[in-house]
Amino acid sequence: MKKIVMADRAGFCFGVKRAVDAILEALTAGKSDRAVWTIGMPIHNPQEVARLKAMGLQVAQDASEIPPGVKVLIRAHGESRAVLNALREKNVCVIDTTCPFVRRAQDLANALSEEGYHIVLLGDRNHPEIRSIMGYVDGGLDVVADEAEAERLPKRGRVALISQTTQQEERLAAVAAVLVRRAGELRVCNTICRATMERQDAVRALVGRVDGVVLIGGRESANTGKLRNIAEMNGLDVLWIESTEELDRGWFEGRETIGIAAGASTPEWLITEISNKIARM
Ligand code: F3S
Repeated sequence: MKKIVMADRAGFCFGVKRAVDAILEALTAGKSDRAVWTIGMPIHNPQEVARLKAMGLQVAQDASEIPPGVKVLIRAHGESRAVLNALREKNVCVIDTTCPFVRRAQDLANALSEEGYHIVLLGDRNHPEIRSIMGYVDGGLDVVADEAEAERLPKRGRVALISQTTQQEERLAAVAAVLVRRAGELRVCNTICRATMERQDAVRALVGRVDGVVLIGGRESANTGKLRNIAEMNGLDVLWIESTEELDRGWFEGRETIGIAAGASTPEWLITEISNKIARM
């Protein structure tokens, strides 16, 4: 029997829970009503997405695939203004569950861009959240993943640095330190969300208390990836899994106390299922 130490904060954040609850509500009401769609996976957790699809959720690759007249849930990552405008023209019922933390980043990007700042977004340029924020910038824009990319930006007058909500604060500070030498004026907006910071702190708190950490979360989940980085940077051995089937018995040999952490898009039922299995190993 393994001893389990659960990270203080694990699993669904407020924004993801709000989005999933809205999908469930729309699906329940939608049985006799209209079909329920999202654009892209509603959350970065394949097991939870499979559950929602089994209940009737339909997932489009982009707005052009959405048929007229249906319900469309805007996921927590948000969408660009262009996508929202395209949906309005289709006469669909839009249910917007953009996370308020993402909305704040979109609004800041929009307002500062209108004030004449060149916007630098810190994050993954292929991530839906960054693409949604990009859709609110009318002027100059760069996306950087780290300090090295920030070093390559040209010198500018007024620059505003805005972060993807799932970034680590250390990286935001490091990129700000680079940009302050490359801008006449630098505005730094800490748009990292509290849920992200709390989950990162909860992983740091496992250091010295466990023989390894099982991290539960989707491979596409940015915040889960950051949790792995933080755990490994702090000397913790990590087994990153999406589902119970991936529990590798070999990894558990010689480890008595196992920490469990989970990304913000990992559902409670999956954490419980995996924890119970580990406890019996
Ligand atoms: Fe929102 Fe933060 Fe979750 S931005 S979706 S509360 S990870």
